[in-house]
Amino acid sequence: MKILVLGSGAREHAIVKALVRTGTSRANIVVAPGNAGIAKDATCDPSLNMLEPAEVTAYALAGAFELVIVGPEAPLIAGVADPLRAAGIAVFGPSKQAAQLEGSKSFAKEVMAAAGVPTGMAHECATIEEVTRAIDQFGAPYVVKADGLAAGKGVIVTSDRAAALEHAEKFIHQSVLVEEFLDGQEVSLFFLSDGKTVMPLTPAQDFKRALNHDKGPNTGGMGSYSPLNWLPAGFVAEVQAKVAEPTIRELDRLGAPFIGLLYCGLIVTERGIRVIEFNARFGDPETQVVLRRLTSSLEALLHKSATGHLDSIIEPEFSDHVAVAVVLASEGYPDTAAPDRVIRGIAEAEAIEDVEVCVAAAREQVGELYANGGRVLSVVATGKTFHHARKLAYQGIEKISLEGSHYRTDIAKKVDEHE
Ligand code: AMP
Ligand code: GLY
Repeated sequence: MKILVLGSGAREHAIVKALVRTGTSRANIVVAPGNAGIAKDATCDPSLNMLEPAEVTAYALAGAFELVIVGPEAPLIAGVADPLRAAGIAVFGPSKQAAQLEGSKSFAKEVMAAAGVPTGMAHECATIEEVTRAIDQFGAPYVVKADGLAAGKGVIVTSDRAAALEHAEKFIHQSVLVEEFLDGQEVSLFFLSDGKTVMPLTPAQDFKRALNHDKGPNTGGMGSYSPLNWLPAGFVAEVQAKVAEPTIRELDRLGAPFIGLLYCGLIVTERGIRVIEFNARFGDPETQVVLRRLTSSLEALLHKSATGHLDSIIEPEFSDHVAVAVVLASEGYPDTAAPDRVIRGIAEAEAIEDVEVCVAAAREQVGELYANGGRVLSVVATGKTFHHARKLAYQGIEKISLEGSHYRTDIAKKVDEHE
C-alpha cells in the first residue's frame, strides 16, 4: 500500500521505522516534508506544505497514495484530513472539527463534561480578574493553561502566584483555563479509533520537564519509557471504558467522529484516574517507545482505523521487551531558538545492537548533518529489563556529538531502581 506520512519529527521517524519493521516496504513510503535523518529510512519530499489541505490532497491524488498518516497536530487543526477524506483517500487523523479536542482545551472540557469523563475542575477565563479569582479559589499549586495550541509551552504549574498570573497575561488574548492541581503519576495511553470503535495501544510515560528530577520548564517531552509495570491490573480497560469510549461516542453524537489516534494524557490520583489533556495524534516522544514494541502490522492497524474497520482486526501485540527513549535537545531549548550546528555520531549510536535513533530536526549539507531545531533526536533502546535498555540508550546518546546539547540522565531511572 502506498503511504504518505505528514510531518518532520522524531515521531514521524518512529512511525516510518515501525511501518518497515512490521512489514511495509520502504519503497511504498513517502514522508513530507520529513527531514535529513528520516531520509535515511524513506523518501522525503520537503516541497509539500502540509498545512495547505488543498495542496496535500492534490499531492496525495497525484501520487496515488492509499493511506495518509498525519503525524503532528498543526495540519489536523488546519483541516488537512477533510478534503483528503472527501477525495476518497483513507486518512489516519481526525477532521478539523474532531481535532478541536486537542486544539481547544475548553472544547475538550465540554466534551468531557457531556460524556462524564473524569477530569480536573477548571474555570475558563477571559480576563485577568477572572483568572485571579479562579487561582485564589483553587489555591497553590496553580495550574494555568492556554486554551489553544502552544507547542507544549501553554501550561504552567507553579506555586508562585505572580508567575501564574504572568503566564495568564501572555495567553489571555485567546482565553485561558485555570485548573485544580492534580497530584499523581502521569500516564500517556493511546487509542486507535475508527470513529466508533477504539483499541488501546500500550501505556507509556513521558518526562515533560527540561531537567533531571522534573525540574525546569515544561517541554515537548525529554524522554519516555514503556510499558508501565507499576500500573494496577485493569488500568487500560478502565481508561477505555471511562475515558476513550465515552469521548468517542460524544464526538460521534456531535457529528464529528474521531478517526485517528486519541491520546489520553492522564494523572492517576488517589481519587482515581483524571484526564489532563487529549491530543488528536501520536505523542512525541511516547510514540518512539510504544511503536518500538509493536509487533503487529502498523499499516493494517492504521488502515483499518482510517476505513472504519477496527472491529474486524485482532488487538495489537507488543514485545515483552521494554523500551526507553532519551531526547537530545539543542542548546537553549526550550527557552531560546537553537543555533544550527553539526551533529555527528548517529550511525555509531545505531551500530549498538537494539539501539535506534529517531531524528527530529536535521538538514544535510555537503555530507554533514546539521541540527536545526529544539528537540533534535531521540535515542531509543530496547532490552529485557529497564536496567539494560537504559544502559544502551545512554551508551547510544554518548556516541552523539552536538555542541551545547543537553539531555536528561534520569529517564526511567525510578523504574530501573524498582525492578
Ligand atoms: P498539558 O499540556 O495539559 O499536558 O500539560 C502539560 C503538563 O503540565 C502535564 O504533563 C502535567 O505535568 C502538567 N499538568 C497539566 N495539568 C495539570 C494539573 N491539573 N495538575 C497537575 N499538573 C498538571
Ligand atoms: N509528549 C507530549 C505530547 O506529545 O504532547
